[in-house]
Amino acid sequence: METQVIRIDPDDIDAAAISRAGEILRSGGLVAFPTETVYGLGGDALNPDSSRKIYAAKGRPSDNPLIVHIADLEHLPAITRGFPTAAGRLAEACWPGPLTMILKKSDAVPPETTGGLDTVAVRMPSHPVAAALIAAEGGYIAAPSANVSGRPSPTKASHVIEDLSGRIDMIIDGGDTDIGLESTIVDFTEDIPVILRPGYISRRMLEDVLGAVRVDPGIREGADAERVRPKAPGMKYRHYAPRAELFIVEGAPGDVAAKINSLAAAAAAEGRRTGVIASEETRGNYAADTVYAVGSREDELAIARHLFGVLRQFDDDGVDVIYSESFNTPEIGAAIMNRLLKAAGHRVITA
Ligand code: TXA
Ligand code: MG
Repeated sequence: METQVIRIDPDDIDAAAISRAGEILRSGGLVAFPTETVYGLGGDALNPDSSRKIYAAKGRPSDNPLIVHIADLEHLPAITRGFPTAAGRLAEACWPGPLTMILKKSDAVPPETTGGLDTVAVRMPSHPVAAALIAAEGGYIAAPSANVSGRPSPTKASHVIEDLSGRIDMIIDGGDTDIGLESTIVDFTEDIPVILRPGYISRRMLEDVLGAVRVDPGIREGADAERVRPKAPGMKYRHYAPRAELFIVEGAPGDVAAKINSLAAAAAAEGRRTGVIASEETRGNYAADTVYAVGSREDELAIARHLFGVLRQFDDDGVDVIYSESFNTPEIGAAIMNRLLKAAGHRVITA
């Protein structure tokens, strides 16, 4: 299959191009598009064949449900059964934006889209290209992140081209994504709202709107993480993984640099290519084949935005082993560390 790549400027949307992309979706094709979090791989959410094609293109296990993207709250009742008041308050505060809600599904949503579950994940993205495409499609786009299953989520059109060229009909290049980590997922099908995946919308922001929230024990990093089954099926898979082995090194900053340098020297002595993930403030402290700064310690948004791109960069560089600093930043550190720990297979070394 030949994949068309088109460029759409988010600040000056080409209506004719969007309408061509919407037509591809309506006729059962797949279109990758930018959102404010990461690029999504879109198909008609109400067409079971489209969902099957999405799983095939990504190489994704079919028990891992897709998020349905809408552009208008008026479209919500057709795909859900009931909308709890708390969910309504959160929608008011966070939609359109990087938030996904788990709700009971209506019969309009085929089981192929929800991995057989009787709940549906719904998100209203704020990216203008995403919003325009959803409207052109007619209302409901199923979209996982537009990466091959297991690889870091795409934050640039070039990442999507790398993973999905030849497997889908169209890729819309709308520039780099702003947030760089996937949406926060909150489950509203239990008594108390539960965070199933941390993201830019932090626990504190959710508590400000909702009062008490719980965190799904299945996503907590640490010793139990592999034993407690997460409620979002996707959270149980190895993910975001670069081809190299990745280790996170924790401790006081000076100790971390010394530890990483000695580990990297030992690996280099074995003939392995080494990489380090550092911050702007610390990059100068390291000796390795490749050292990347994800951002300043003072700018957690930059760290989030660059993380997946840096993980992919190491693959291009042919690095064999990567050592990363830890980034437990105040607001979105939980989301950053969730992705980094998964990428590392929870391998943490204490300096
Ligand atoms: O920011 C995002 O959410 C991006 C952009 C494209 O919108 N999408 C995204 O989709 O990250 P994906 O498929 O890569 O991740 C969806 C996650 C998976 O972990 C999946 O298991 C979970 O959402 N999920 C989907 N439906 C669910 C449901 N009904 N119950 C529990 N978890 C669900
Ligand atoms: Mg994904």
